[in-house]
Amino acid sequence: MTGDHYFSDAPESALRLTTKTLNLRGHEVELSSASGTFSPGSLDTGTAQLLKWAPAPPATGRFVDLGCGWGPLAIALALESPEATIWAIDVNERALETTAQNAARLTLSRVHTSRPETYPDDAPIDLLWSNPPIRVGKEALHQILQVWLPRLAPEGEAWLVVAKKLGGDSLQAWLNAGNAGEFIVERTETSKGYRILRVQRT
Ligand SMILES: C[S@@+](CC[C@H](N)C(=O)[O-])C[C@H]1O[C@@H](n2cnc3c(N)ncnc32)[C@H](O)[C@@H]1O
Repeated sequence: MTGDHYFSDAPESALRLTTKTLNLRGHEVELSSASGTFSPGSLDTGTAQLLKWAPAPPATGRFVDLGCGWGPLAIALALESPEATIWAIDVNERALETTAQNAARLTLSRVHTSRPETYPDDAPIDLLWSNPPIRVGKEALHQILQVWLPRLAPEGEAWLVVAKKLGGDSLQAWLNAGNAGEFIVERTETSKGYRILRVQRT
């Protein structure tokens, strides 16, 4: 009974959790995914490509998983950088709850969840990973990136995964044209039809 999108604020569908053992960049962990969130039941192929190709994060700093869903990127960052603070951001309350539960089960108290508008924007972001919400539409996606990319620290980086067929190349061109600030965006890999984009300040 549902017209839910994965980016609904409050999914109406009944909650079904699926718990699986996943290998996140060498860390074997049990994570739950939730119905009414993005890619329930399994790790998305695009997310898997970002996990495969993004370089090792710094040991410490403030990291953001923009559009965290049930949290695989945020959890991977927390496991790999034991001193970093991770902010997992989403508009979908169920996604935020599931990420928080996944982090709590792994005693990763450095993972904080927040809606975009309640995020404490009081320090620059050292690393942002995102499988961004393409399905919200180009204009909304652009607005999201215009808010978050300028929050990068001078030496900060963002790593994005975008399907080529869903506009990975045009997004890269749009960013390189300076529409979200002065950034250089490089395509570091193409894997299973997904572009891996590295965003750095010029
Ligand atoms: C493609 S999914 C990726 C989810 C998760 N990171 C993963 O890899 O499985 C994009 C996520 O962005 C969220 N989203 C939509 N609009 C957003 C916004 N304005 N700010 C932050 N996240 C948003 C969606 O709810 C969704 O969970």
